[in-house]
Parts: sequence; C-alpha cells; structure tokens
Amino acid sequence: MSRRDGILRELGLGPIWRLRDRPAEPVLEDAEAAGVSPRLTIAVPAALPADDRAAAIAAMGWDELKAAVADCRACGLCQARKQAVLGVGDVEADWLFVGEGPGAEEDERGEPFVGQAGKLLDAMLAAIDLQRGNNVYIGNAVKCRPPGNRTPEPEETAACRPFLERQIALIKPRLIVALGRPAAQTLLRSEVKISGSRGRLFDFHGIPLVVTYHPAYLLRNLPDKARAWEDLCFMRRTMKGS
Ligand code: URA
Repeated sequence: MSRRDGILRELGLGPIWRLRDRPAEPVLEDAEAAGVSPRLTIAVPAALPADDRAAAIAAMGWDELKAAVADCRACGLCQARKQAVLGVGDVEADWLFVGEGPGAEEDERGEPFVGQAGKLLDAMLAAIDLQRGNNVYIGNAVKCRPPGNRTPEPEETAACRPFLERQIALIKPRLIVALGRPAAQTLLRSEVKISGSRGRLFDFHGIPLVVTYHPAYLLRNLPDKARAWEDLCFMRRTMKGS
C-alpha cells in the first residue's frame, strides 16, 4: 500500500477506519431521578457591559457555566437554537479541540460533532490514539447553531468567547487544537489563514495552540486529508514535547 493510501485509510477513507453510527445518547427524562443536579439558572444579563459580563463568566464553575450557556441571550443565535451546546468530554483533558459551532444534529442532541464531521473527527482522534471523552474535550467557538450552518459572525464569536475562555481556564488543557478558521480566529483574536497557520505553534495565554482544517472542510476536500494527517502528527509531537 502506498504511504498516501495508508494515510487516507487512517483517516477513515479505507476499510480500517470506517466508523459505524454511534447509538443515540439516552435521553434523561428526569434529571433528578438520574442523579443529575437540578438545572441552575444563572442570570448573566446580556445587557451587562461586556467587561462585567466577561468578569462574571470568568468566575464561574462548571455548573454555573452550563446554566449560563443554556440561558444565554447575548447574541441573535439564541433565537433559532433548540439548545445551546456547551461541549463534551473530560473536563481535565490534556487535549482540547475547538470547532466552529453546532450544526443541526448537534443542536438536536446537545453534543458537539455528532454528525458527519464528527465521525471524521472521531477517526482523526483515533488516528493518534485518542478518543472522545478520554483525555479529550471537544467544544465550539459558538455554543448555538448558526442558522443554515452559516459561519458565525464576528459579533457572535465575540459574545461567546468568554464562555470558551472559561472552559479553557477550567480544563487547563496542555494543547488546544483549533479546527478551522473561525475557531482559530476566535481563539487568536486575529485574521488567520489555515494554509499559513498549519504546522505553527501559537500561544493561548501560555497554552500551545495548533491550527488545522475543520473536519467538514476535509469531507469536501478529500485530498487535504493527507495534510490533516501531517497536522495530527505535528499535534502529537507537540504534546509529547510539552
Ligand atoms: N461543526 C462544528 O464546528 N462543530 C460541531 O459541533 C459540529 C460541526
């Protein structure tokens, strides 16, 4: 088998990594009966000055953060969402993957990356011996689905950024992986091109950050999966060296 074939197989295009559909998560009919703490309502009025709102969010623990995200009305994305999607995984993970925003299936199920792009992300994780939820946390730049899966607007990512920053502060990952341009731009607060950012080490408040393609882009641009594999190897090397 050629090296290229090997890479594509590793990334889910060959028989080795063909993923089956994951079973749907059980629906919690009664959170209290299931031992889940009752839902908090945390009022972080969207009308607070941005600095005060960010400071309030920066002081939150996970329960308050979950509640604040669920009730957030800081930008227009709240209007069409079914639910806000905070993130999923190990809250003490070394690896943090940040995507763009929930799509239709994520909006429905309340978990990031559960659609086609998510299947590819899972295959990418498996290619470097990682697994969703196991030393890995997956979140998004915006927590509510942009209508029609459009790219979130800068004011939407800016409104959601304090939530992402708080997640990062609580998780304290050893490496942050920005999946695609909106995630990279949100985290780095600057214009970014994926082509010019791949293979470079950025810094997010002392945490190494790398940039790679968004899995949904890779589904549309199959030849770039070989480059994504290079990025995965770079991430792994970076983590080993950190
Ligand atoms: N794309 C993203 O960026 N995030 C998701 O959660 C799903 C698809």
